[in-house]
Amino acid sequence: MTLHPAEDESAGRLRVLDLAREGSGPGLAEEVRRGLASGGRKSLPPKYFYDELGSLLFEAICLLPEYYLTRAENEIFERHAPEIAAAAAGGSRLTLLELGSGSAGKTRLIIEALLARQGTLTYAPVDISRSALEASARALVESYPALCVAAHHGDYDAALPRLAETIEPAGRALVLFLGSNVGNFNREGSRAFLAALRRSLRAGDAVLLGADLRKERAALEAAYDDAHGVTAAFNLNLLSRINRELGADFDLRAFRHAALYDEAEGRVEMYLESRRPQTVNFPALGLAVGFDEGERVHTENSYKYDLEELSSLASVAGFRVAETWLDSGRRFSSSLLVAD
Ligand code: TRP
Repeated sequence: MTLHPAEDESAGRLRVLDLAREGSGPGLAEEVRRGLASGGRKSLPPKYFYDELGSLLFEAICLLPEYYLTRAENEIFERHAPEIAAAAAGGSRLTLLELGSGSAGKTRLIIEALLARQGTLTYAPVDISRSALEASARALVESYPALCVAAHHGDYDAALPRLAETIEPAGRALVLFLGSNVGNFNREGSRAFLAALRRSLRAGDAVLLGADLRKERAALEAAYDDAHGVTAAFNLNLLSRINRELGADFDLRAFRHAALYDEAEGRVEMYLESRRPQTVNFPALGLAVGFDEGERVHTENSYKYDLEELSSLASVAGFRVAETWLDSGRRFSSSLLVAD
């Protein structure tokens, strides 16, 4: 095989590592059985949203007029990336890690700020979508000749114990946890996850934590139920993945997407709602599941925060909030957490 010299060169700066093959959980078949056939409220696991089509649909969500989160966070980085890099580094060299990197679009601003400070950089993204991870990693090494990428394919649980190995021993780590990633944990889950992350870091390492802020219902419900129907397609894609991987016969047209803001809980709840009474077959599981008209299957929560909640979250997990930046619309926050 002849490689274009530029490709040949950038290939040496890119590694893609597979973490535990199927992640650490029970797997799709078992999770579908538990979610749909164990009685009570039906649910499906959100971790399976991000197959190839799901990852592309999520990238489209990030471009929607209603989904302000990505633009707000990008605005923060456009204005403050050099300041964020300086605050995280505090005089040391940084290794950059990212949990749930997706297409890594916003990450470019942080990468550029770090390259400007220290000349070279190692970036270790973790993502559940192999297609998104590979495409973004390849594009990054081609854009930045002084960047090395050690991409990790897998879920967070599999990734955390491996993170320490990627960090340059002499320097510090900056871990990006951007967008509304933390929002997909419940409140207790976010505390437990950040505490586990803290245990794989050393004192002085930092986390840049994105969080969507509590706000009026209309803005939140529109962000999760857009006029183009892209979010609906993203949510429904979970059913087509189950059809493909488990041989099930979900009729996507017989379910509709619903997004409801629970203000007391501070979370947008995502559902797939059955449009009519129906039975869905799962031959691989030896299972048939009935749905009533209007019955909802819960697929994901997206928790919203205020700044006080974020600082108590940081401190129970073993971090202090060094600095917080907001976008001009005060819709979204980026907090730099430093490990105590
Ligand atoms: N992490 C994203 C968020 O909470 C995921 C997301 C966006 C999502 N739109 C969705 C998940 C619709 C399920 C359904 O903002």
